[in-house]
Amino acid sequence: MLQPNKPLADLTADAKAHLLETFNVEGTVVAAAPGRVNLIGEHIDYCDGFVLPLAIERYVVIAARANESSIARISTEGQDPIEIDLTQKQEISDIKWSNYLRGVIQGFLDRGDRIPGFDAYIVSSVPLGAGLSSSAALECCFATLIEGLVDTVLRTSEKALLAQKAEHDFAGVPCGIMDQFASAFGKKDQLILIDCQTGDPEMVPFSDQSLSIIVSNTCVSHDLSDGGYATRRKATEDGLAIIGKKSWRDVTMEEVLAKKEELGDVIFRRSRHVVSEIQRTQDAVKDFKVNDFSQIGKLMAGSHASLRDDFEVSCDELDLMVKIATDIGFEGGVLGARMTGGGFGGSTVTLCRTSDAEAIAKQLHEQYLEKTGITPLIFATRPAQGAHLL
Ligand code: GLA
Repeated sequence: MLQPNKPLADLTADAKAHLLETFNVEGTVVAAAPGRVNLIGEHIDYCDGFVLPLAIERYVVIAARANESSIARISTEGQDPIEIDLTQKQEISDIKWSNYLRGVIQGFLDRGDRIPGFDAYIVSSVPLGAGLSSSAALECCFATLIEGLVDTVLRTSEKALLAQKAEHDFAGVPCGIMDQFASAFGKKDQLILIDCQTGDPEMVPFSDQSLSIIVSNTCVSHDLSDGGYATRRKATEDGLAIIGKKSWRDVTMEEVLAKKEELGDVIFRRSRHVVSEIQRTQDAVKDFKVNDFSQIGKLMAGSHASLRDDFEVSCDELDLMVKIATDIGFEGGVLGARMTGGGFGGSTVTLCRTSDAEAIAKQLHEQYLEKTGITPLIFATRPAQGAHLL
C-alpha cells in the first residue's frame, strides 16, 4: 500500500520527452527541487520559532532549452503552454500556476539579472494541495533552472527568500520560511533544523536506515490562500503585541498565562500553541541527537493535540489518520504521528521502523478508506537532496 516514489531519473526523462513533444527541442538545462514534510515545529516559522522539516523524495523537475528570444514558453501536464516576456515587470495572472513562475522571474529581474528566452516543460511527483509544499518546490526548482540559464549561483538562503517572496507577492500566501528553506537546503539523510529568528539552518543527522517517514495524504484538500492561514498568522501577531514582546522567542509560558484575560480565549490558545511548540521542537532535536524515540513520539502527539485544540488547524480526517497510526503504537513500529504543514486537510507524518512501514501503510490505507470512503495516498520517504541542477 506504500505508493512508490518515481525515481528522479524517470521524472527527468519525462520532462525531457514532454519538452521535445511540446516545443520540439532537446532539454539542455534540467533542474529539480523537492517538496517537504515537517516532523515538528508547526505554524511557528512566522513566529521566530524552530522547525524541523526534511526534503522528501518527491520532486518538481523542469527541463529547458534557451530559445534565442526574450520570451519564456512554459508548459506542464494538463495545461496550455504560457508565454512570458522576460523583459517586462511581471504582473499577477489569472492562470494561477503561472504566478509562482512570474514571482520567481520578478525576483531575478529585481536582482538585475537578464534572463534569456527559453522553452521549458514542468513535471512533478509532489502531490498538490497535500500540505507537502508543491508550490515551494515549483518556486525553488524554477529559481534553480533560471540560475542555470543565467549562469549565476545565488546563496541558498537568498534563493529560498526569493522563492518565498514570489509566494507572498504573486500567490498571496503570507507564508513563513520553512517550505522554501527545506526545498532549497535539503540533504540526503539529514533533517533541517531552522532557527527562524536568525534564518540559520543546521543539519541534524537522520542516517539510521531502520527508521522511515510515512507521509499520509488524507486527500482532503485545503487552500492556504483561503484566509485560514492568514488569520492564524494575524492572531499570533496580535498575541505578541498584547504580551508586549518583540519576539516569541522571548516569551515564556508564565507570561502567556499571566495575560490570559487580556488575550481572550482564542488568542490565548493561539499563543499557548506558539510557546509550547517552540519548546517541543527544541526538545525533539535533543531527543533525535540521542535517539530517544519514545520521547519524540510524545512530543509529536503533543504537537498534534496543540494544533488541533489550540491552533485549530486540524480536521476530522487528519485526526483520524493520526489516531490510526497512534493506535498501531510502538509495538507495531509507529514511533510518532501528527499532522504536518499548514493543515485544514493535507497530510500527516508518521515516524516508524522501516521494517514495519509496509504493514503500517496497509493499516492506514484500509482503516482510513473504511471510515471516510476516501482513498488516501501513502508513501514512505527518507530525507532527500534539495534543489539542484541535473
Ligand atoms: C505552510 C507555510 C509554512 C508554515 C506551515 C505551517 O506550509 O508555507 O511557512 O507556516 O504552513 O507550519
